[in-house]
Amino acid sequence: ESVLHALWMFLPAYVANMSPGLVAKLIPGWKAPIDGGRLGKDGKRILGPGKTWRGLVGGTLLGGVTAGLVAIGAFHWDLMAGWDYGANDFNPNNALGAPNEEDAKIYESHPALIVLFGAFVGFMSLVGDAVKSYFKRRIGKDRGRPWVPFDQLDFVVFGLAAMALASPLLADGWVKAALLDDWIILATLVILTPFLHFLVNVLGYVLKLKEVPW
Ligand code: CTP
Ligand code: MG
Repeated sequence: ESVLHALWMFLPAYVANMSPGLVAKLIPGWKAPIDGGRLGKDGKRILGPGKTWRGLVGGTLLGGVTAGLVAIGAFHWDLMAGWDYGANDFNPNNALGAPNEEDAKIYESHPALIVLFGAFVGFMSLVGDAVKSYFKRRIGKDRGRPWVPFDQLDFVVFGLAAMALASPLLADGWVKAALLDDWIILATLVILTPFLHFLVNVLGYVLKLKEVPW
């Protein structure tokens, strides 16, 4: 169950990381690269043609939308009760999802701030992806070549850091409880994500959304 909770609450980062490929299909004409085509001192592109403003903007918007849907979904899905970014009845003294005592102090996240939280997590996930590309170019790996495990984990590290940084947007203590109360949550995200990343990319390749299966 903790594994599902981890994947569930990290959905904004997962969706943001998958969205550039989808947005690329929707708006193929807008491909302005973040690095503006500039080269580093080593003669290689700073980030490369695979890191576009379109991807960054799309991932930010979809990250926000996803967080909103996750919060709404958790209200109506008992399995994920409490894993709603604190949208409903969060009591930092109880385990996430446990029912509140009547006299308990209750915190709630504002819906608009939940969407903002998701957008920030999505944005930072793709900043992580771009930072990864910066180092990938510096060691001479061209755009689209595999670089395990950095291609898989870039957005996890930045997505988690974003959650911690943006935690004041949500009900007091929610992010801390979600990430740290149960060690399985962080372990799931770090260990399972590379496998999921691989599966999703193979699927994207089979569906012809991606040119390479990694
Ligand atoms: N993409 C984008 N903008 C971003 C990130 C990704 O447009 N900020 C799109 C690009 O079309 C990219 C595809 O999503 O080719 C897959 O993303 P990713 O695997 O992260 O990029 P790579 O092309 O593999 O480039 P790199 O080697 O720099 O990681
Ligand atoms: Mg890649």
